[in-house]
Amino acid sequence: MPLTTTHTRLETLDQVADWRRAGQRIALVPTMGNLHRGHFSLVERARELADRVVATVFVNPTQFGPNEDFSSYPRTLEADTAGLAAAGCDLLYAPGMAQMYPFGEARCWVEVPALSDTLCGAFRPGHFRGVATVVARLFLHTQPDVAVFGEKDFQQLMVIRHMARDLGFPIEIVGMPTVREANGLAMSSRNQYLTPEQRERAGLIYRLLREAEAAVLRGEAIEPKLAKGLGALVDAGFKPEYFEARDAESLGPVSSGDIVLLVAARLGKARLIDNWLVQRE
Ligand code: PAJ
Repeated sequence: MPLTTTHTRLETLDQVADWRRAGQRIALVPTMGNLHRGHFSLVERARELADRVVATVFVNPTQFGPNEDFSSYPRTLEADTAGLAAAGCDLLYAPGMAQMYPFGEARCWVEVPALSDTLCGAFRPGHFRGVATVVARLFLHTQPDVAVFGEKDFQQLMVIRHMARDLGFPIEIVGMPTVREANGLAMSSRNQYLTPEQRERAGLIYRLLREAEAAVLRGEAIEPKLAKGLGALVDAGFKPEYFEARDAESLGPVSSGDIVLLVAARLGKARLIDNWLVQRE
């Protein structure tokens, strides 16, 4: 099956309705494009979970802050289209701005307040409101049975799970492990803001996460380890925003359940995030 590309909500709904009438199950992979192996791992999982795979490419303005990289965000639709075709995606929905925001700035927002003001939300006010709002719209435009997201954006995945459950979207939300470079750096479209030397240096984030995990598993106090990690990042020329341990279910303070370790740090022109889930017996 060749890849079809649509640019409007109505063409997309038509295509999906045809598949649904034929009794086919539909999986969605939302992206902002500039696709890499991390994105393609989601498409591959989507293929296993459904008969048809829809990917979306839309650089969503409402999730960027006023001084962020919306205008410079890499837009590579031609290469993305070829990559999606090779990965076995059936439909690429690449909506224009007027499809997603027909009245200009959104008149209707979706918000998950309990999860949106902490960690990345504290440094990027309004970011998760923009994410929840656009993902809700993409769900409505593509009507999937299942949607696949990366655990790399752990807080985003939680926001989306809460939104889908609370609003009653009949969509299963599936999370996939982070795909990494050889040095442990989580793959990201923003990694191309890094020089080759910075890219190498950025492997430190992964090493610090794994060291903190080892400390947790040995039963050591985590706070001093996190403080040391922040220091190590500063010493290596990063501008860290946070390095924290949280309860993996609520993102609240660590309790008896699984712990997630989360980092955000700037290096050169890039803002990098990563996390590691520590599963305790
Ligand atoms: P984007 O950054 O393009 O990421 C699209 C999807 O790919 C997200 O679910 C993200 O978690 C996943 N992903 C990114 N890097 C990954 C990696 N290294 N390994 C595995 N998965 C990875 O996240 C967004 O776009 C947007 O916020 C979006 C959800 C599309 C809403 O605009």
